[in-house]
Amino acid sequence: MRMQSTNALFRRATLSSSTTTASIVRRSTLTAATARNFSSSTSTSAKNNSTTTNSISPLQTTTRTQPNQVPAAVTPSSTRNMASSCSSSPTKGSSGSTFEKIPNTSIRILRTVSSVRRFRKALLLDSRSVALVPTMGALHAGHLSLIRAAARENHHVVVSIYVNPAQFGVREDLSSYPVTWDADCAALAALDRELADDGNNLGRISAVFAPSTGEMYPSGFPGQEVDSKGSFVTITPVGEVLEGASRPTFFRGVATVCMKLFNVVQPDRVYFGQKDVQQTVIIKRLVEDFLMPIEKVVVVPTEREKGDGLALSSRNVYLGERRRRVANVLFRALSAAEGVYKGGEGERGREQILGAAKEVVRETLEEQMAMEKGKRVRFEVDYLSLADPETMQELETVDPRKGGILSGAVRFLEVEEPQEGEDLGHSGGPPVRLIDNIILPPQ
Ligand code: PAJ
Repeated sequence: MRMQSTNALFRRATLSSSTTTASIVRRSTLTAATARNFSSSTSTSAKNNSTTTNSISPLQTTTRTQPNQVPAAVTPSSTRNMASSCSSSPTKGSSGSTFEKIPNTSIRILRTVSSVRRFRKALLLDSRSVALVPTMGALHAGHLSLIRAAARENHHVVVSIYVNPAQFGVREDLSSYPVTWDADCAALAALDRELADDGNNLGRISAVFAPSTGEMYPSGFPGQEVDSKGSFVTITPVGEVLEGASRPTFFRGVATVCMKLFNVVQPDRVYFGQKDVQQTVIIKRLVEDFLMPIEKVVVVPTEREKGDGLALSSRNVYLGERRRRVANVLFRALSAAEGVYKGGEGERGREQILGAAKEVVRETLEEQMAMEKGKRVRFEVDYLSLADPETMQELETVDPRKGGILSGAVRFLEVEEPQEGEDLGHSGGPPVRLIDNIILPPQ
């Protein structure tokens, strides 16, 4: 009975084919037998591959967008809120024009493409270096570490805050994505003071670019459907695997919005977090293949919770107390796999490395399933991967001269039998999908 419950939670975790003989652990329905073998199996089942679960969370919108239309349901609430709730202060510039600033700082709030262009032109004429840190807001210490890195080596840092609807699937959490504009402004103001006090920085935060969707998609928002028509940037095949396989429009949305942001801000350097490792590979490919005049794509290490190593993420607020306790399972699994890589010599096999990660997942699931419904946490592994650091294609063995990337995605289900007064998390604790990765360095 207990085993059956555990198996059910591996519903999305099975093995799919890839271009190499290696396979990643990917969502699908497992039989009791395959689930039992989960910790050791690597064989691929094409049949299982097609059985994808498609549950819809209560928060997921099913609104379909027409080309050139941005229905309210898919308009990120951030863009609506930012226009109304910003506690900015209008300031007179030397030319007599008025611009918005975060109060008690010199950080400008720029909302239009033309205002960024004017701002950028002055810095270009002045030969000042400019860094861009793209974000979707809900800023946490991970975002701030990117800004710190950018301020160390650039005269001016521009932070963009824009919840880009094009990178959310039609059934994803766009409408509930946390929007914390006032807190974001406060965090930027505090960080800017810190940067000013620390003599080791070349620059500080000069501007926040917080555009509307109308500004970012001037001929109309093309929609979130896989077959939406519009002007998109696609980076394949690297954008089609792993996160791209689970979220088919995600990297198209990311690459498209980043291309726009780069064209508007024209940064010398851009800063991205290792937390979203596949995103960094895509951005590097975008800059290289489109001959973008960007000197460097800087990748900043993942910021983690001090206590248990959970990677900081804007989506952690959805977890609530109960699921938060188990939320580091992916990090623990990837760390176990990393230990096998580091402990070995010569070429290391996939089976050996990923086997250690699968074992941690299996043990954790069994522990949870042994608990009462009112206490336990259910989760599904979307995938566990060992991939090439440049192509993100699955590896059969790791060449220690090249290293690899261990990554995974886990979906935490809603808690069962919520207890009186239990903290269920933001928006009532919907299912939460978390990703993480560890880089296996060349040795
Ligand atoms: P967002 O999730 O807000 O993340 C913005 C940047 O912060 C990304 O480069 C991300 O990798 C980095 N980041 C997030 N958590 C981090 C952590 N714990 N440690 C270090 N860096 C972390 O990623 C996006 O937004 C969007 O896709 C975006 C690039 C802005 C395009 O819309």
